[in-house]
Amino acid sequence: MPRSLRLGVLTGGGDCPGLNALIRGLVKRGTHEFGHEFVGIENGYMGLVEPGLTHPLTEEDTRGILPKGGTILGTSNKANPFAYPFRENGHWVDRDVSDQVLRRCEELKLDGLVAVGGDGTLSIGHRLASRGLNVVGCPKTIDNDLSGTDQTFGFDTARLIVTEALDRLHSTAEAHDRVMVVEIMGRHAGFLTLDSGIAGGADVILIPEIPYQVESIVEKIHRRATRRRSFSIIAISEGAYPVGGTLAIQEQAGEVPGRGVVRLGGSGRVCADLLAKHVDAEIRVTVLGHLQRGGSPSAADRLLATRYGCKVLDLVRDGQWNHMVALRAGEIVAVPLSESRKERRVDPSGELVRFAKSMGISFGD
Ligand code: F6P
Repeated sequence: MPRSLRLGVLTGGGDCPGLNALIRGLVKRGTHEFGHEFVGIENGYMGLVEPGLTHPLTEEDTRGILPKGGTILGTSNKANPFAYPFRENGHWVDRDVSDQVLRRCEELKLDGLVAVGGDGTLSIGHRLASRGLNVVGCPKTIDNDLSGTDQTFGFDTARLIVTEALDRLHSTAEAHDRVMVVEIMGRHAGFLTLDSGIAGGADVILIPEIPYQVESIVEKIHRRATRRRSFSIIAISEGAYPVGGTLAIQEQAGEVPGRGVVRLGGSGRVCADLLAKHVDAEIRVTVLGHLQRGGSPSAADRLLATRYGCKVLDLVRDGQWNHMVALRAGEIVAVPLSESRKERRVDPSGELVRFAKSMGISFGD
């Protein structure tokens, strides 16, 4: 009979569809097969710093959450225990509260901590693990930019949402002969824009990995016009920028809580303004923003998240701490948490980009 343990669970970083499916898989299998007890930790690592943010997490709590977006545990992308923000004399200062977090885990009598998140949350988990805490990580993000895993959950749902948005924007673009610029999340990786740009029939796809030349996009728009295509759809990553230009940043790090995280935004507007000097057609910008992270997870994301949640318990059973679950060649496997620090980028000479180009899609290069 496997030993029953007491496991803390937290979700950190930006929310994404599938977090609740993971929590459900973890708690259900953990309860049924292992008799584990779970402690829900609210708002990411904040729940291990601030009082009153932990509670028993039972199977009953996971009832009905499978199709729900967000996370029943709440999340935070500002609560790094190694640089925790405190307001002092009207200013924000960062303090290392990692000792306090380790003590709190002891007080809670946790045998281990399951940390679900992106590179930030997982690398904090890795640092805590190297301080002796038993940690298992689960990778999530709509950006799909973690190199340790072939896919993160959340990505598939976001890709569907963006694809549908591109489909819908086609009608207005065509009816009004407009150039529609659609700004898509993904931070410094273009996976979401590339996949949904192709799936949604974009004419131009602009990703951070391939800085764009305005002239090249203008040429594409004009070429379409000569073929009686009076509209164009441009899918642009929030992290895309013109050759010789810089990233479009919404808020400068250092000014508000959440600093340390550069918040991207405005790449669509930048691109539209550059194009407006050369293109007669009306240009409109749509920023999809957090719509991309919201709502019910796709079946693929529910499955991947459920598999991750269940697999965590194998790692726990085998004492494989300081590892994260990951998808590799169709199998869910354990990889060292240190892998979570490596970010992944679209390969500009990869198959998908080559095929897209061969179909006439412009990447602005
Ligand atoms: O990492 C997920 C993500 O949605 C990115 O695509 C985006 O840049 C960022 O989070 C936005 O974060 P926030 O919700 O904190 O503005």
